[in-house]
Amino acid sequence: MMDNVGTISSPAIVCHGGAGHSAKDQPGVDAAVEAGWNILQSGGTALDAALASVVIMEDDPALNAGTGGRIRSDGSLQLDAAVMTSNGQYGAITCIQQTKNPILVAAKLLDEKVNILAGRGAREFADSIGIDREDVEGSLKPTGNDTVGAVVRDETGLIVAASSTGGCTAMPAGRIGDVPLIGAGLWCDERVGIAATGIGEQITLKMSSVRIADRVAEGHDLEEVLKWGINQYPSDVEVGFIALASEGVGFGLANTKMPWASKG
Ligand code: GLY
Repeated sequence: MMDNVGTISSPAIVCHGGAGHSAKDQPGVDAAVEAGWNILQSGGTALDAALASVVIMEDDPALNAGTGGRIRSDGSLQLDAAVMTSNGQYGAITCIQQTKNPILVAAKLLDEKVNILAGRGAREFADSIGIDREDVEGSLKPTGNDTVGAVVRDETGLIVAASSTGGCTAMPAGRIGDVPLIGAGLWCDERVGIAATGIGEQITLKMSSVRIADRVAEGHDLEEVLKWGINQYPSDVEVGFIALASEGVGFGLANTKMPWASKG
């Protein structure tokens, strides 16, 4: 694997608040970008910035992650989150309960031998690292399918992609969407970080995030590749992506409304 970490790079960040969300949900995304950007400007790492951004969006009840995560058909709130770094680390949790900020649990798996934990095991891991159990409200909104995400590059050239979701509305308990599945909802390598949003089953079938990264590796322009990624889906399948390469600014694109913002 090529390793560009350690070289001087220009920091950048891009965040989204989920395909299917309208402009009224933009403020939480703007606040997330601002928080991550401030960390980068003070020399913080891409990981710290990505986590801070995603926590802000998880705490925003308008967005489908953390506090605003969609409640399952059995009335439970089960959340998914994942983090991947350009230096080859991955951590994800799925169907975790009683956890306000699942992204912080996923991030703690980056340095562990086990890189994905589900349900009870994920929650017990959170207990073991001192993340308190909390009753998280969740949302019964019938629309708005999706997920929050951030992709960040720091001054060392490290890229980090992070996503968190309550999944789609009224899914059964135990259902796993694209977010915790490496290469489907999330991918990060030394060339590009990608976070997907939309109907998890469809994104999983297409392995969209890693396939977008493959096209970037072939030398295609990032914006063109995102258009290609969207065009792999019929227009009635809601999907969107944010992406950030090893140079330049981040982009967001969706086949529906999707609040997103970038700095860099
Ligand atoms: N894209 C989020 C999910 O389907 O779970």
